[in-house]
Amino acid sequence: MKGIILAGGRATRLRPLTTITSKQLLPVYNKPMIYYPIETLIKAGITEILIIIAPDYSGHFLNLLGDGRDFGAKFSYAVQKEPKGLADAFIIGADFIDNDNVTMILGDNIFDQDFSQEINNFKSGAMIFARKVEDPKRFGVVEFDKNMKAVSIEEKPESPRSNYAVVGLYTYDNRVVEIAKNLKPSDRGEIEITDINRIYLEKGELQVNIFDTLWEDAGTFDSLLHVSNVMAQKEKAKQVQG
Ligand code: DAU
Repeated sequence: MKGIILAGGRATRLRPLTTITSKQLLPVYNKPMIYYPIETLIKAGITEILIIIAPDYSGHFLNLLGDGRDFGAKFSYAVQKEPKGLADAFIIGADFIDNDNVTMILGDNIFDQDFSQEINNFKSGAMIFARKVEDPKRFGVVEFDKNMKAVSIEEKPESPRSNYAVVGLYTYDNRVVEIAKNLKPSDRGEIEITDINRIYLEKGELQVNIFDTLWEDAGTFDSLLHVSNVMAQKEKAKQVQG
């Protein structure tokens, strides 16, 4: 299983913070944001990781993370010149993925959970994770039938069919590369990961795991502040225990 961290994009929502650095290098309490997705992948047993970054501040990622040795992992890097959409990661990463399966995590998604069991048990198809949220309109939304089988998936719907957001952690078999290459851009001009998930759903090969532990898409001022406070409390609780 290969790993990809998608850490490019323009992060206009976080200006002026992101006028001087990349969103994924901003602090979440006492660590740069990107440490969290790195740790999530490593905890899941994935150590061969491609980090996709935007051209601006790309050197800062290299300075900070190097070849991955300090994390017990092996990092490689690719530059995404334009933010063409999340699915572009599988086109940029095609050579890196080679003939393997792949797990992608978004560089601004923060979890506090061990996904190793689900990821180790993955055989084929697609596997995504969903979590109940207050504001599903901001996210990909998955709808379930009464047996909790996924029946639809939509990107940022006006009228969400459920409160379950698709979070930024996705596992696919090797077919994802070809699927990504054949996608057409959406109305917002991006190739959408939600379209990849819909293709697997239509084949009956999309597994959706619901979880309810911490998840934050740290792409707004409020979510960044919230997750920093949560992590500060956790750190302090650890120090008291220790
Ligand atoms: O956070 C989970 C959500 O992430 C999902 O529920 C949505 O289905 C999915 O589309 C995505 O929505 P966002 O609106 O959060 O995506 P955003 O454009 O903010 O991109 C997510 C991260 O990926 C962000 O840190 C920037 C990076 N990115 C984004 C694009 C479009 C890239 O590195 N390259 C890109 O081309």
